[in-house]
Amino acid sequence: MQKHVKLRDESEVLIREMTRKDLAGSLAFFESLSEEDRTYLRRDVTKNEVVARRIREAERGAARRLVAMAGDQIVADGSLELSGEEWKNHIGELRLIIARPYRRKGLGIRMARELFLLAASARVEEIVVRMMRPQKAARSIFRKLGFRQEVILPDYVRDLSGTKQDMILMRCDLEGLWREMEDFVATGDWQRTQ
Ligand SMILES: CC(C)(COP(=O)(O)OP(=O)(O)OC[C@H]1O[C@@H](n2cnc3c(N)ncnc32)[C@H](O)[C@@H]1OP(=O)(O)O)[C@@H](O)C(=O)NCCC(=O)NCCS
Repeated sequence: MQKHVKLRDESEVLIREMTRKDLAGSLAFFESLSEEDRTYLRRDVTKNEVVARRIREAERGAARRLVAMAGDQIVADGSLELSGEEWKNHIGELRLIIARPYRRKGLGIRMARELFLLAASARVEEIVVRMMRPQKAARSIFRKLGFRQEVILPDYVRDLSGTKQDMILMRCDLEGLWREMEDFVATGDWQRTQ
């Protein structure tokens, strides 16, 4: 897939699937994140080997990964991860991170929409997202997208600085997400991201 998208400030990005040619660009993207943003990531994606593994996972179908490009620079990274375990192969886990200068322009919603399309084609029925409690923007965007059920596990994970954090898991069935998306279509904001 490959889609040119106009953001709320009229800037344009290209959303497309990540390929092995994105290794250096992806590393540069993660290295450019602020320390605060990196703290809440699950893996240390400033390591070449970790980023290479993410790409291999996409190549073998364990994940679908999208990037948003502004020129030749990656400005957002989104993933739909599939567990591969039979008892939960109807579930996809969504992960999303947008470069700070590109936030609050509708790119998060737009990336999420493309990931939902990938989820539908992978016959995923339910999407889950996991985040740490300080990730307030994440909770807000996923609520807006229709994720309603929340489970909070106190002190369940450690951030990259070693501090224990509450983990929040939000879930939503794909049908519910499409209903929510239709509401966006009815609003001016969403139309400006088309
Ligand atoms: C969460 C994140 C992906 C949102 O991306 P974004 O491109 O800024 O999101 P959008 O511009 O599409 O915002 C959509 C809606 O989400 C909500 N939202 C987004 N950022 C918010 C913030 N900082 N505070 C409150 N609400 C916020 C708003 O309702 C917003 O709609 P509005 O701008 O019309 O008010 C981005 O902040 C990010 O990368 N955060 C760090 C990584 C992370 O937490 N990832 C999620 C865990 S998987």
